[in-house]
Amino acid sequence: MIYLKTVEEILLMQEAATLVSRTLGEVAKWVAPGVTTARLDAIAREFMLDNGGRPACLGYGGFPGTLCIEVNDTVVHGFPSDYALRDGDIVGIDTVAELNGYNGDSAYTFAVGEVDPKTMQLLRDTKEALARGIAEAKAGARVGNISNAVQSYCERRGYGVVREMCGHGIGKSMHESPEVPNFGRRGIGPVLKPGMCICIEPMINLGSKNVVIGSDGWTCRTKDHKPSAHYEHTLAILDNETRVLTTFDYIKEALGDRFI
Ligand code: MF3
Ligand code: CO
Repeated sequence: MIYLKTVEEILLMQEAATLVSRTLGEVAKWVAPGVTTARLDAIAREFMLDNGGRPACLGYGGFPGTLCIEVNDTVVHGFPSDYALRDGDIVGIDTVAELNGYNGDSAYTFAVGEVDPKTMQLLRDTKEALARGIAEAKAGARVGNISNAVQSYCERRGYGVVREMCGHGIGKSMHESPEVPNFGRRGIGPVLKPGMCICIEPMINLGSKNVVIGSDGWTCRTKDHKPSAHYEHTLAILDNETRVLTTFDYIKEALGDRFI
């Protein structure tokens, strides 16, 4: 069942999306060598609560943090911990804020200090893959058009496109129908309709597409232990336009000339 949102609901979605964007912007100020991921998690949780939101990941299916932490070979759903970020790491931070009963979901992969050029390119290319996916997300198009745009952009460059995890619909629940895979064919899948709100979130590996879930039942890593990147936006499909509800502008402001 795909829930189509009214214009009023989309305005509420926009508020939740802005809160999650601002939260990532706050976290971005603190991402640096020596900072523990648990500290980043506490900053995000306090920021959401201080702004009237609820950290939607915390307790979701037993998840123990506000942030999903994705260091180097972690693809998604890593736990915040006392691990201190190191120069040369990349760290994906994925989180969901609930505000007024609606959810906003966004992820961004940060470079910590000086990161090797191939991995920096993976970050740029994964971000561009998200933009290519968003460009296909229009009323009347099919989900497969988004999937194919992400997959073809990344596989052309020799990256592994993760199959096990997908983007998704979003609204009163953080995960709603439809699934939005990062691989697929044009012209297949559900038709995008005005009122649909979806998350597009390419998870792209420098090496093979294969992943392994750890013994905690959550932490998803690349099988070959090569790095993985992850960017995500929440968007709303309207009649004549698609509105990207989340933004990386707050991250850009925090990172200054380190923003890629
Ligand atoms: N954006 C992530 C996802 O769609 C958020 C997960 S929160 C968690 O899977 F609690 F499930 F980890
Ligand atoms: Co998501």
